[in-house]
Amino acid sequence: MLETIQNFVNNVSTTTNAWLHSTQEAKTSSSALCWKNLTQYTLSEVSEHFMYNDCWLVIYDLVYNVTDFLNEHPGGEYIVMENAGRDATLAFRGSRHSKDAVDMLDKYLIGILVESERIYTPTDDELALQSDS
Ligand code: HEM
Repeated sequence: MLETIQNFVNNVSTTTNAWLHSTQEAKTSSSALCWKNLTQYTLSEVSEHFMYNDCWLVIYDLVYNVTDFLNEHPGGEYIVMENAGRDATLAFRGSRHSKDAVDMLDKYLIGILVESERIYTPTDDELALQSDS
């Protein structure tokens, strides 16, 4: 039984890491330069935008203003509002969004978390190294 659980955990973790890795790779290779120019926000600043008429989310350390998207969201506006002003990465991933949905994010991008509050993104120094090479 213990072995079955261990196998399950290993499988989930391998899949998750592969997914994260591919997402990170795609982002850093295509957007390293743009990221340097993004406005930086703290989670505290993001948390002030939690209203229907002013709704920001954090997904993979990037900050999105989804106010204009709320009533267009195919999954409904309430589920997005549950994450308003917060890190919505796990909720976004948990809903198994398609690649189209991931691509749509770009339209709402307004910034990136300050370096000390990032979880998924390389540091500014690492990004600079990547864009130099
Ligand atoms: C800017 C952020 C978001 C974008 C661009 C977005 C986009 C989409 C799109 C395009 C779909 C249609 C299915 C697909 O193509 O995957 C969808 C469905 C869905 N989204 Fe989002 N989404 C966002 C945020 C969220 C968040 C934060 C949640 C929170 C859990 C969420 C939950 C869902 C759910 C549950 C569905 C499925 C609806 C159904 O079963 O019909 N979405 N989203």
